[in-house]
Amino acid sequence: MTKFKLGLIVGSNRRESINRKLALALAKLGAGSFDTTIIQIDDLPMYNQDHEQPVPAPVARFKAEVEASDALLFVTPEHSRSIPAVLKNAIDWGARPWGKTSWPGKPAAVTGTSGGAISTAVVQQHLRAVLGNQGLHLMGGEAYILFKPELIDARNEVADENVRTFLQSFIDQFAQFAAKIAPRQAQRAA
Ligand SMILES: Cc1cc2nc3c(=O)[nH]c(=O)nc-3n(C[C@H](O)[C@H](O)[C@H](O)COP(=O)(O)O)c2cc1C
Repeated sequence: MTKFKLGLIVGSNRRESINRKLALALAKLGAGSFDTTIIQIDDLPMYNQDHEQPVPAPVARFKAEVEASDALLFVTPEHSRSIPAVLKNAIDWGARPWGKTSWPGKPAAVTGTSGGAISTAVVQQHLRAVLGNQGLHLMGGEAYILFKPELIDARNEVADENVRTFLQSFIDQFAQFAAKIAPRQAQRAA
């Protein structure tokens, strides 16, 4: 069976990012439904409207990968109770040049992890507002993952059974949601 193409966008450029670990764990849990690609964002230059015609090569590559994805999963840390600059920069490039936005109509889900008491609750609210404005279709519900050092092992397996069950349900729900939102892709996957 052809699977959905899932683009994973991680809102961190840190080498040992705990959100990249979570993203890879979700990719593994969703392997039955999705072929997953991490869409790189840390090579994008700082957005500048003077550099839109033509867009720089990494931006063209980024936009093509977003557009080729059937669904998008954002896994992000929270920076200063909001969206990390590296991720907001990518969202802005995706939205430009005027009339050439890469975002509308894509089914999307949002999650993230931090060691903080409310995990990534605030950034996820901000991100939902921004992505909604860009015309993505966002899956409802909440997935705030409290990170602990032993949560995800070197093979991208979630060690904690309760968290694993929760994440499995999250990614399975997202596959169902994506099929409802994107019937064209669902037909291809049938
Ligand atoms: C500039 C900055 C701001 C941060 N602000 C928050 C925050 O508002 N809430 C939070 O839970 N953690 C915050 N943190 C801690 C991050 O959760 C932590 O650095 C985490 O490892 C980031 O995820 P990553 O490893 O995927 O980059 C902040 C970290 C940095 C570097």
